[in-house]
Formats: sequence, structure tokens, C-alpha cells
Amino acid sequence: MFASLIILLAAHLLAANAHGQACECSSVVLPVDVNTLIAKDPTDPFGGLRSNATALRRLNAEYDIFGVFCTPNEKTAQSTDVIQLLVHGLTYNNEYWSPKTEEFQNQSYTAYACDRGLSTLAIDLVGVGKSTRPTNASDAQYITNAAAMSQLARHLKNASILPGIKPFNQVIGVGHSSGSVVLIAGAITEAERSPFDGLVLTSQLSFQPGQLGTPPGEVSARDDTPLRWGSLDPNYVTSDIRFPFYPADTTLFSPRMLVYDNFTKDVAPVSFIPGISISSLPANYTGPVAKLAGLRDQAICVGTGRCNDLAALTALERVLWPKAKSFEVVLTEGGHCMTLDFLADGAFSVFVKLVKEFAGLHSD
Ligand SMILES: *[C@@H]1O[C@H](CO)[C@@H](O)[C@H](O)[C@H]1NC(C)=O
Ligand SMILES: *[C@@H]1O[C@H](CO)[C@@H](O)[C@H](O)[C@H]1NC(C)=O
Ligand SMILES: *[C@@H]1O[C@H](CO)[C@@H](O)[C@H](O)[C@H]1NC(C)=O
Ligand SMILES: *[C@@H]1O[C@H](CO)[C@@H](O)[C@H](O)[C@H]1NC(C)=O
Ligand SMILES: *[C@@H]1O[C@H](CO)[C@@H](O)[C@H](O)[C@H]1NC(C)=O
Ligand SMILES: *[C@@H]1O[C@H](CO)[C@@H](O)[C@H](O)[C@H]1NC(C)=O
Repeated sequence: MFASLIILLAAHLLAANAHGQACECSSVVLPVDVNTLIAKDPTDPFGGLRSNATALRRLNAEYDIFGVFCTPNEKTAQSTDVIQLLVHGLTYNNEYWSPKTEEFQNQSYTAYACDRGLSTLAIDLVGVGKSTRPTNASDAQYITNAAAMSQLARHLKNASILPGIKPFNQVIGVGHSSGSVVLIAGAITEAERSPFDGLVLTSQLSFQPGQLGTPPGEVSARDDTPLRWGSLDPNYVTSDIRFPFYPADTTLFSPRMLVYDNFTKDVAPVSFIPGISISSLPANYTGPVAKLAGLRDQAICVGTGRCNDLAALTALERVLWPKAKSFEVVLTEGGHCMTLDFLADGAFSVFVKLVKEFAGLHSD
């Protein structure tokens, strides 16, 4: 199956990093074969991971995964050995990691990472952006996406993503919010067989069913923006309320970022909302794991009291990773979308430090 993975499209140069080393970015489309059991009931908070066979159905499909691959122009050992697979969260897409405007170029994590010699592949999840959108939203569950991301990671290690680029020795998964839950789902199902050499799980903490409310303003995408999404299954959702993704202190982000965010928002399968409770299940994953939470994160920290005591939070999260090579929780200063506010630099430096640590590279 993996042999059938080929690049369908390798396009144009997208960005040159204003600050330092030039960064070559290309759009790619990578087909993945997903063959897995998923929950018949897309509102199952555990995505079928706790269900017996009667509650599961087999999903066997091929999806095209769209991504933006960025690599430093001047090749160093680390840029050719290690790649970060960047997985966006609910109602975002690959652009979360690199907003496509002049003004926000200094808030591009892919450019920041490139500058420090690290390659990235920022993808759109199944159902989102330019990746395949299954007609039936209940096909695009966490487990579906976990299987797709694992296959993508194996592909990155086994085949050339573009002509002239060697397969990578190591793949570090970096998730944001629901994207972190996708990586957790894979860490549960694949355990010691996981192709990921480390997981950096940002803006995500474990939540039991009912512990985290529905995100505000959630609405069927087809009702929200009929011109764009009018023909979609109503179980693809989006949200018009974006400010909880930013710090409550409005001086800490650009008002234009909020406008840009609202303008470029994407859809997510509705199963991603209850399915967040997959994050409360233990994973037998054996690589190194770090969770990052922003002290100004209005979705998971502010008002929950969970981020006040780092030792207590670490102890609570640690038990879910009994076999991890290492585990830590890092508190950063920013909000839920910690790459999109003025405190982003602090988060970026933690991402890079962890990725280099997990990959066994020297930090600068
Ligand atoms: C790696 O690639 C080779 C050649 O393309 C293929 O035969 C093999 O099945 C692949 N292995 C994995 C684990 O993907
Ligand atoms: C499977 O789970 C269902 C509930 O989801 C339960 O009603 C049924 O008894 C279970 N079957 C077996 C064989 O455990
Ligand atoms: C989506 O698929 C599920 C499972 O096969 C099915 O129960 C449901 O009716 C489908 N929904 C639509 C809108 O076709
Ligand atoms: C978001 O964009 C829509 C149009 O796409 C607009 O109607 C709405 O007022 C905007 N909301 C905010 C909070 O900017
Ligand atoms: C994890 O490993 C333990 C044994 O060490 C086992 O009891 C448990 O079922 C495993 N969990 C999963 C999800 O496979
Ligand atoms: C980006 O640049 C703007 C304008 O110079 C500045 O206000 C902002 O703090 C910078 N953002 C980051 C993340 O460095």
C-alpha cells in the first residue's frame, strides 16, 4: 500500500523568510489509504476506542492529504534528517502555522523553524481545506485522521517527498488543540509501533466527557457561509466566534489577526467536539511527549484553575503516558492559538527546543 504513495503535485515557491535563511516551500498532495475501525456513532466521546465490535464499522478509503512542505534552502544535517508534521486544530487548516499575509510574516512558525534549520509539513486534515472532504462527515473522525497521519509519517520516512529531498530519519508530530487529539488517538492505537519520534502537543489538556463545553458559536458550516459550504453535510461545522482563541487582553494580539482569522476559518467534522475526550484515555506510546498550555488560553486554562499549579497539572497528565520515554508539561504565556498572538515568539522557541531535544539535536 505504501508503495502506491506518490506525489501528485509539487508546486511553486511560496515564501522567502524575511529575517534570515531563505525557506523553500512547496504545496504537495499525498494520497493515504485509511483502513481502520471507527465508531458508528460519531458523537462517541472516545471515538470507538472503548467500544466492542458491535459499535464499530470499518472504513476503507483513499484520501488526498494537502500540505505545505517547507525546508531551509541551505541544507544542514538537521534539516535533512528531521521533519515536523504540523497538525492544525478545530476550524483551522495548514495556514494556522503560517498566516499568508505580509503583515503576519513574523508569526509564521514554519519560517521560524526554517530559520533554525528545521523542515516542516503543515497539512490539512481529512475533511478540511484542500484535503479530501468525505461526503459524509462521520467518516472524518479522530481515528480516521490518526490513521492518515501515521501513514503520512511512515511515508516521510520511507520515500522522497519531492525530487532531491531524501526520506527523513525522524518525524516529530506537532499538534494544536484538536490536532493534538489526532496525534493522541494515533499514540493510543499505534503505541510502540507509532512512526512518530516525539510528540509536541500544544493547547491541549486531557478532558473527561462533559468537562469541556462545546466551543462557542459552533454552527453548521453550510448555514454559516452558504456561498462556500452550502452543499456540505450539516455535520461539518465552523464558528463565527474567534476571540476565545486569543488572550482576553486585546493589546496582546493584532485586531487585524482576528479579522484575518475569521476570514480564513475552515470547517471541522462535528465528531471532533465530543471526541476531545479521547485525550482522557491512556496511551502506550513509547516516544518522548510534551504538552504545552498557554496561561492566557481561554479554552483550557483561564477559569479552569488547571494551569495554576504546574506540578499538579504535570502529575495529572503524566499518568496517561505510562510508557513514554519522557513526559513534561510546559506553560507558555500566550492564548489558545499561541502562534497567532504577540507572545508567539515565546511559544515558537519552546516548540523548536522540544523538537531538537526529541530528535537528539543540539539546541542553539
Ligand atoms: C517503503 O517503500 C518501498 C519502496 O517504495 C515499499 O516497497 C515499502 O513497502 C515501503 N515500506 C513502508 C513501511 O512504507
Ligand atoms: C457491546 O457494547 C454494547 C453497548 O455499546 C452492549 O450493549 C453490548 O452488550 C456489548 N456486547 C458485548 C458482547 O460485550
Ligand atoms: C453517514 O454514514 C453513517 C454510517 O454509515 C450513516 O449512518 C449516516 O446515515 C450517513 N449520513 C449521511 C448524511 O449520509
Ligand atoms: C466574520 O466574517 C463574516 C463574513 O464572512 C462577518 O459577517 C462577521 O461579522 C465576521 N465576524 C467577526 C467577529 O469579525
Ligand atoms: C497498554 O498496556 C497495558 C499493559 O502494560 C495494557 O493492559 C493496556 O491494555 C494497553 N492499552 C492499550 C490501549 O492497548
Ligand atoms: C511582529 O511584528 C509586529 C510589528 O513589528 C510586532 O508588533 C509583533 O509583536 C511581532 N510579532 C511577533 C510574534 O514577533
